[in-house]
This record gives sequence, structure tokens and C-alpha cells, in this order.
Amino acid sequence: MAGGGFAGDGHAGSFTGRLTASVVITCIVAASGGLIFGYDIGISGGVTTMKPFLHKFFPSILRKEAEAKTNVYCVYDSQALTAFTSSLYIAGLVASLAASRLTAALGRRNTMVLGGCTFLAGAAVNGGAENVAMLILGRILLGFGVGFTNQATPLYLSEMSPPKWRGAFNTGFQFFIGIGVVTANCLNYGAARLSYGWRLSLGLAGVPAAIMTVGALLITESPSSLVERGRLDEARRSLRKVRGRSADIEAELADLVKWSEMAKAAREEPFVSIFERQHRPHLVMAVSIPFFQQVTGINIIAFYAPALFQSVGFGSESALIAAIILGLVNLGSILVSTVVVDRFGRRLLFLQGGAQMFISQVAVACVLAETTGVSGEKHISKGSAILVLVLMCVYAAGFGWSWGPLSWLIPSEIFPMKIRTTGQSISVAVNFATTFVLSQTFLSMLCHFKFGAFLFYAGWIGAMTVFVLLFVPETKGIALNSMGAVWERHWYWRRFVQAQS
Ligand code: BGC
Repeated sequence: MAGGGFAGDGHAGSFTGRLTASVVITCIVAASGGLIFGYDIGISGGVTTMKPFLHKFFPSILRKEAEAKTNVYCVYDSQALTAFTSSLYIAGLVASLAASRLTAALGRRNTMVLGGCTFLAGAAVNGGAENVAMLILGRILLGFGVGFTNQATPLYLSEMSPPKWRGAFNTGFQFFIGIGVVTANCLNYGAARLSYGWRLSLGLAGVPAAIMTVGALLITESPSSLVERGRLDEARRSLRKVRGRSADIEAELADLVKWSEMAKAAREEPFVSIFERQHRPHLVMAVSIPFFQQVTGINIIAFYAPALFQSVGFGSESALIAAIILGLVNLGSILVSTVVVDRFGRRLLFLQGGAQMFISQVAVACVLAETTGVSGEKHISKGSAILVLVLMCVYAAGFGWSWGPLSWLIPSEIFPMKIRTTGQSISVAVNFATTFVLSQTFLSMLCHFKFGAFLFYAGWIGAMTVFVLLFVPETKGIALNSMGAVWERHWYWRRFVQAQS
């Protein structure tokens, strides 16, 4: 098997793991951890264009909208509104760093339960909000919720799934994020007609939170995590359950124990160890992959799709429909990834998706430049607005089968056990930090750079595609504990990795 050749390890990588009904169901339930993240992404974009919501919390935007016929790019440029959207990401960042120890000490599953409960509390505070402070407090709780679940769920999925299907299983997380986004967009569409619609949209975040929390309570903890915490009997039972009666689980268990003992013998502080030279490739991936995912510009589209379409000439209702269409395209394209990722590999998807996103962002910029004029003072025609929507769909599809799911998959599969939870934490924290900075700046960037904002992201997409070409190794089908060989074979990274990492 591809992962062989590990010094002193003739065994690792030989556990192909069968595809049992139990592992499929367990992973589908676990992947529902993505629901709350997606719901939040989808809901905040729509709620922030609802008039009663703006009237109650951000009246200055409505005033500006009434006056500002001048520049279509600037109506939504408000610091307070931006703070509302992005406060979640700061909380998520803190939570995901704390989650490194939590997922190691409490296990992946319990961290998911904790995340679900915190999110539930945030939904209640937001649904009942009377002032901006309550809104922000609610979002901080939501942020803690997604910080915990985004850290634990992808790890759980990668540890549970048979290596041969790990990519497909892991795309489940992004798929549920997508379901969350679309559900929230549809709900917003209905709720926008009601004066208390925003309360409904924000409060109903409790439903996906309840679904994922109950789901997490029903599944078994990952064998790696149980071994890590010295619970061998439970690990054996968990393996038996997901690998099936006929599987040789003793060999897999022995392998997990061996790796866990090596990790413990190293006695290193994982936050120190990850900065050692031998872990340089891992650290670079933990930081660059989520960073690049965000500078694809996806969250401009996800958060602000309704605001954006309104800015470029759609009415408020058709803007929400446009956001729903985008969400559905994204959802369908994630399934493409599910089918392809373990057959043709991660690199192919990254490269093809990158090229597609690059072309569509450049095209959006051209259409906007052509139709709204350099100053943004002309209103865009219906035909051009539809063309922008089509181009954004092409973009969303490219993201859906590449950087969307792969940015959760790669960090969850490349780390050795001793730094796995830490590496994943760094990766989620970088994801949130970058989202925060971009969401803080995007609306004023759109206001000042106008269509050039899309060229900015296109530039990044070009750069990340070259990065993948040169530096991201193929990890399909390789057992987690055999991943070291991937770096040893890589033309650049091999100089950092010792024979036994
Ligand atoms: C990203 C989010 C994004 C979402 C869109 C996720 O993988 O991390 O930032 O909003 O995909 O579906």
C-alpha cells in the first residue's frame, strides 16, 4: 500500500477497513456537525438585509440606503453591521485553540456535544435579542459552538473512516455545511415577509444545533481518541462496531496503541512540537490551506450574496433567491467531490477547481466593470445581473468540489497522532481569523475597490493553485499513521522530515 516504507513499521497502512453500514451511519451523523456552521453562514447574510432587523439594530443603514443613490457598492458599508457578522469568528478562533486540549482530553464526540449545546444557547440569546449587545453575546456563544465542532468533527470523520474512503466521508462535513447554508437561505426567504422574521431566523438556529447534539450523543467515540486516553476496552468495542465482526481489529488496535505510546513517550508539548523543523510541512499546511480557502473569496458570496446582488441591481427578494440558487449549486458540487476525491485524488480537484474559480472571478470583475462603470454610479441591467449570477454559480461549483471540502479534509488527515488535535486547532483558528479579517474589510473593500475586489480574490486563487501544484502532496488512500511517507517522498518537504517522524 502507498503508505508503506515507514522506518521500523512494516505494518502501518495495511488496515484498509471495510465499508460497513455502521461506519457509514456513524459518519453521516457526525458530519451533521457541519449543519450549525452552515446555518449560521446562511442566516446572517439574509438577516442583515431584513428591514425590521436593520430598523431595530442598525437604523443608520436604512437612512443611507434611502439617500445613497450615488454608489451601488457602498450602501452596506457599516462597521456595526460588520461587527455583528464577524464577532462570531473571534469567538470561534479562541474556542478552536482551546479545543485542542479539549478534544485530546474529552474526546472528539464529547467536544461535538459541547459545541452543539453552546450553539443552542447562542441561538436562544439571539432569537430573543433586544439590543446590539445581546446580538453580539449570542454570536459569541455561536462562535464557541462552531469553534468546538469545526475542530472535532473533521478529525472524527478522518479517524473513523476506512482510508480508502476517507476523502468521501470527510466531504460529508462540507455537505452538511452546504445543507445548513441552503436551509437558512430558504428560511430567510420566507421569514423576510414577517416583521419578526429575523427572530425566527436567528432563533431557529437551535434546530440544527439540537439535531447535531442528539446525533453526537448517539455515536461511538473514535478508536484513536479512546486509545489516546488509555481506554483500550472501549476502543476495541468501538472498532468492532464500525469495522464489523469479521474484521481483524486487534491488529488495528495494536497499531493505534503503538502510535499513541510513541506520542506519549515524546512527552512534548504539542504546541511546541508543531513548530519543530520535522513538522514544518504540517505547520505550513495547517496555516496555508485554511488561509487560502478564505482568500478564494467564498465568504463574500456566502455572507453577502443577498446584499451583493441587491447592490448590483436585484430586488431584495430576488437577491435572496439568487443566494438560494448559489447554495444549491454549491451543494450539488460537493457531491461531485465525494465521488471523485478518493478515485482521482485531492490534487486534481484542487487544480481544476482553482482554475474554474479564477476564470469566473475575473469574468465577474469584467462584467461589473463594463456595466456599473468605474465609479459604480451606473445601475446594472437585469441581463448583466443574471450573467453575474451565472458566473458566481460556476465559481460556487468550483469551490464546492475543491477548496470547500478539501480544506477540512487535508488538515484532518496529515498530522501524526501526537500533534493531530493541535494541528487541527491551528487550522480552524486560521480559518476563523482570516474569515474575520475578510468580513471586516470586504464591504469597505467593495465600496472602494468596486469590481477590483473580485480581481483581488482572483489573484489569490491563482497563487494558491500554483502552491498546490508545487507543495501539496497527494494523500488519497493512505492510512493516517502512514502519512509520514508522503513528506519523505516529496521533492521539497523531504528535507524537513526525518526518517521517523
Ligand atoms: C468555509 C466557510 C464557507 C463555507 C461555504 C466552508 O468550508 O470554511 O468559510 O462559508 O465553506 O459553504
